[in-house]
Amino acid sequence: MSTNTLDSIKHRVSANAFDTAKPLSKAEIEDLVSYALEAPSSFDIQHARFIAVVDQAQKEKLKALSWNQAKVTDAAVTFIILGDTLAHEKLPDLLGRAVKAGVFEQGVADYLVNGAAGFYSNYTNERLVRDEVIRSASFAAMNLMLAADAKGLVSGPMIGFDSAGVQKAFNIPERYVPVMTLAVGYAKEADNWPRKPRLTVAETLAYDEGKVF
Ligand SMILES: Cc1cc2nc3c(=O)[nH]c(=O)nc-3n(C[C@H](O)[C@H](O)[C@H](O)COP(=O)(O)O)c2cc1C
Repeated sequence: MSTNTLDSIKHRVSANAFDTAKPLSKAEIEDLVSYALEAPSSFDIQHARFIAVVDQAQKEKLKALSWNQAKVTDAAVTFIILGDTLAHEKLPDLLGRAVKAGVFEQGVADYLVNGAAGFYSNYTNERLVRDEVIRSASFAAMNLMLAADAKGLVSGPMIGFDSAGVQKAFNIPERYVPVMTLAVGYAKEADNWPRKPRLTVAETLAYDEGKVF
């Protein structure tokens, strides 16, 4: 656990073992989501949506669609993190809130709404919209993981699930893309792996048009 961002980044691991005896309250879950919502998003469209799976029977249903990964049921909450491909419909409202808050003037909001429509070819470019919701929801997920670490919790992101099956079983309309699931809760300490080594900066960073990796 660390309340320092740099420490949290170096401290977070993907947990497999969760303390099944320690739940999280709705207030704690909602606080985690509030940090996820602080993430940046393209045009501030805020594509991420969250289903907090907390009920045991619902967790079992999700686990059966998630390669039977135990953390889905062991964690206090497993989020299904979604990207809303129609989230841009709220953009005039969202930017209107920024106008009300005095961040910028209505002219800027109008400019951004038009810019977003143009960039996404009025949202008919399905590939680009899908890429964008996955990008934005992934940033939100990362925020949530770092917030969890800062609160002394652990998290486990997952792509190991049957996306179409989850969509059907949880009555998720087509407009939402399941981006990942994310188990969050208290750790069963000794049973989780320590941090794994990373590629080095030299292996991953190139400058300008020089040698690439
Ligand atoms: C998008 C994504 C999907 C992942 N899916 C799974 C998964 O289904 N099951 C699992 O055990 N770990 C999953 N992981 C965790 C990775 O294995 C883990 O992040 C990686 O090994 C690095 O370890 P660390 O997160 O502890 O640093 C996933 C991670 C990401 C980012």
